[in-house]
Amino acid sequence: MTNRQLFLHHQAQTSPAPIGLEIVSASGNYLYDVDGNTYLDMIGGISVCNIGHRHPDVVAAIKKQADEYLHIMVYGELVQSPQAQYARLLSEHLPATLDCVYFTNSGTEATEGALKLARRATGRTDIVCCNNSYHGSTMGALSVMGDEYWRNAYRPLLPGVWHHNYNSPELINAINEHTACVIIETIQAESGVLPPDTEWLKQLRKKCTDTGTLLIFDEIQCGFGRTGKLWGFAHYDVVPDILLLGKALGGGMPLGAFVASHALMQQLTDKPVLGHITTFGGHPVCCAAGMAGMKALLNEQLIATVAEKEKLFHALLKHPKIKAVRSMGLLIAVELESPERVIEVLQKCLGKGLFSDWFLFAPNCIRIAPPLTITSDEIRLACEIISYSL
Ligand SMILES: Cc1ncc(COP(=O)(O)O)c(C=O)c1O
Repeated sequence: MTNRQLFLHHQAQTSPAPIGLEIVSASGNYLYDVDGNTYLDMIGGISVCNIGHRHPDVVAAIKKQADEYLHIMVYGELVQSPQAQYARLLSEHLPATLDCVYFTNSGTEATEGALKLARRATGRTDIVCCNNSYHGSTMGALSVMGDEYWRNAYRPLLPGVWHHNYNSPELINAINEHTACVIIETIQAESGVLPPDTEWLKQLRKKCTDTGTLLIFDEIQCGFGRTGKLWGFAHYDVVPDILLLGKALGGGMPLGAFVASHALMQQLTDKPVLGHITTFGGHPVCCAAGMAGMKALLNEQLIATVAEKEKLFHALLKHPKIKAVRSMGLLIAVELESPERVIEVLQKCLGKGLFSDWFLFAPNCIRIAPPLTITSDEIRLACEIISYSL
C-alpha cells in the first residue's frame, strides 16, 4: 500500500474529504510534497509555526535535549531544567500575577486544567463563555465551545455552562455569584478574526473582579506575536487571572500551558493532592524546543515586523469578489460570498503552490496566518495567487 492508502485505511479520518497532501519536508515558510511540489504555507500548522518550520535553533535544542534525557517522570515531581527554565522565561514576559506555569501536552488540556482550577479555587460550578469560540475538543473544552453543531452529538456535556455573544453586554450580565470563571479567546480566531471592544473587555474584567469570578483568556491561537504584540491581551491593558497557551508555545512540538499566580496554582497541590496530573505534559524535549522557539521569536524581533506585513496584505488583497478582510496582525480572514467559493479558491491556490484553509465558524473566509517570518515578496506572491484563483 502507498502512504496515501495507509492514511485512508488505517488512520482515523476527521473529515469526509481530507486535503491529503503528502508532505516529505518543511522548511522556513514552505512545505514540499512527495511529487516535488512546493507550497508557500499560509497557515503555519494553524498558528503553530510562528518562526517558520524547523527553525535551526529549535532543531538544535531538540537534539541537545534528546542526548540528555527524554521522559523521566510525570510532570511536577522531578526538577527538569527545560520545564523550569521555560517557565521562568514565560514569567519574565508576563505580568507579575501570571508567574506560575502548568505545562500540558496540548491546548485543550490547558483549557481543562484551567476550568478545573477555577472550580477548585472558587468552589463554584458555573462557566460563562462565548458563542463562536473554540477552546479544544475534549469534553470540558467542548462544553464551552460556542457552536451547537459541534457540541450536540456529544451531549450530555458539563452543566452550568452559559454561552453569550462575544462583545455583548449579555455576557457580562450573566456573571454572578455562581460563576466560577469566564473563558474567552482574547481575539476570537475561528469566528473569522473578531477582536474585543476595549471597553467591553475592561467591563468584563471589572465584573469578574467584583464577583470573585476568575477570568480566563485563551491565547492558544493568538499568542506569541501573531497579533503584533507578544500577547493578544497586551493590546487592551487587561490582565486575566488564568492564561491559556499552546500552538506556537512548543516551537513546533506539542505543548500547552495554563498560567496563573503562584497562590492560585497552589490550589492544585492539596485536597485532593495531585489535583491535576499528566504523564507527558511539559515533556522535556517539547519545553527545550519551545524555549528555543520563543527566544528566536524575541531575538529576531519578528513581532515588530507584523504590522507592516499586515498592512501589505490589506493593500494587495483587493478584488471585487473579496467582501471583507478582517485582521489582527497576521491573523487574517478574507471573506468571500460562500463556503463553496472558499473551497474552490483554496483548491486553485493549492494548484498554484499556496497552502491555506478556512475557519471553523467562518467557512466563508480564507485563513491567512502564515509564519511571522514571511517576507514582503512572499506576501506579494501569495496575494497574486489568491487574486488569480478568485
Ligand atoms: C483558541 C484555541 N484554543 C484551544 C485550541 C485547542 O488546542 P489543541 O488543538 O492543541 O488542543 C485551539 C486549537 O485550534 C484554539 O485555536
